[in-house]
Amino acid sequence: MNRIFISEAIQKINEQVFLQGWVHVRRNLGKLVFVDLRDRTGLMQVVLVPAELDSGSREIIDKIRPEFVISVFGTLQKRKEGNENKDLLGGQVEVLAEKIEIISEAKTPPFEILNDEVEVSEELRMKYRYLDLRRPKMRKILENRFKITKFIRDFLAEKGFIEVETPILGKSTPEGARDYLVPSRVYPGKFYALPQSPQQYKQLLMVAGFERYFQIVKCFRDEDTRGDRQPEFTQLDIEMSFTSEEEILDLVEELYLSLVKKLYPNKKVKLDKNGKIIRMTYKEVMEKYNSDKPDIRDNKNNPNELAFLFVVDFPMFEWKEAEKRWDAVHHPFTMPKVKDVNDFKQAFKKNPADISAYQYDFVLNGYEIAGGSIRIHNPTLLQTVFEAMGNKLEDIKEKFGHMLEAFEYGVPPHGGIAPGLDRLVMILENVSSIREVIAFPKSGDGRDLLMNAPSEVSDDQLKELHIKVDKKNK
Ligand code: AMO
Repeated sequence: MNRIFISEAIQKINEQVFLQGWVHVRRNLGKLVFVDLRDRTGLMQVVLVPAELDSGSREIIDKIRPEFVISVFGTLQKRKEGNENKDLLGGQVEVLAEKIEIISEAKTPPFEILNDEVEVSEELRMKYRYLDLRRPKMRKILENRFKITKFIRDFLAEKGFIEVETPILGKSTPEGARDYLVPSRVYPGKFYALPQSPQQYKQLLMVAGFERYFQIVKCFRDEDTRGDRQPEFTQLDIEMSFTSEEEILDLVEELYLSLVKKLYPNKKVKLDKNGKIIRMTYKEVMEKYNSDKPDIRDNKNNPNELAFLFVVDFPMFEWKEAEKRWDAVHHPFTMPKVKDVNDFKQAFKKNPADISAYQYDFVLNGYEIAGGSIRIHNPTLLQTVFEAMGNKLEDIKEKFGHMLEAFEYGVPPHGGIAPGLDRLVMILENVSSIREVIAFPKSGDGRDLLMNAPSEVSDDQLKELHIKVDKKNK
């Protein structure tokens, strides 16, 4: 007989069922022993009558402890009147066991799994994440995260987008954070960079004629970890050809509003009087809120309110005092609002701070949940922008020569956006950190406490990679 989920067993009154899962609680009443069996789908009360069991099953009753993995074979029956549990999915039924077996024993867990509300230190939860994830609340969050990504994939597929995977071992992209580097064994002294985002690859896919690309993709940034920031996180990366800022924002608006309506129907979404997501310019939000990601909820204590906001018309450049140069606010591929190369040169000479860009952010309840732009597709303008940011010609060739070259082979005008998935799930699930919505997150200080990473590697591994560690400065 095949094992079935508890959620499937519930329907099978008076039938024989075979269940496997974890012991949630065990109550010994002498003549009767009750075991609540737990699997991914719920809880099932199992009734053990020692006198009626075969000797093998009878012997193990006393051994059973919480978190043991057991199998139960028996008959599903209606609970006696008065014994029902209305709060439980399977609260009207129980399994009268005929045979039980212990599959795996379990040590006493370092914290309670029964109860979601028990205060457990985050350190302990991370070290024993596989136990933490047994808690129904955590499992629910990951199930909902899956529903969200599935909704997104279906929605975009319907609109003619295709998902394309891009490399993890690549060359660094200028997104403003520090890169994670991977040393090359074959080429001593050379490194791959883990992508801060697939920015350049998605633009190359536009040159390749894909027109509508998306990818739910891991991105890596070596920056300090915070509640809404992880060294590796997930983006919904989107790029379109022959498009406009308007079209991209409309697409994202439709995606998010339909997602919330389908998966979180109880949320109250703040919209403008035409039923659209509010849009404001960078200048407007700075003047009104002194922040480029204001929380515009009417009532910030209401956990079910969602206040989306598009912020558009960002400035193209910002002054980097430390480096004494103008840098791109978003990234250098962003299209400045200029007529042509000459117009750009004049505007830059006059005042770089006055040049605005086809750049937009998407904000939800005070968090930046996406950023994007229309890209420069004219290679001469792109090169001029790189130069304006203080890059020397040979550096431009070395760092971005492949992009400039690709743009000489028939580049369509294109643009895109990249929503951060973790932040969206965090807000929709009403939790305070993206660590709560990632199965195996890094701790606040950037460590994997379960696997114990980062960790030292053997001298042989280092030698193979041509690396000497400066232990003095460790
Ligand atoms: P940007 O750098 O704005 O744009 O990133 C897009 C979105 O990704 C999320 N995000 C993060 N989430 C968790 N932890 C982090 N460390 C982290 N860093 C960023 C945010 C942010 O809005 N390539 C461009 C997009 C484009 O131009 O199409 C990019 O990556 O929600």
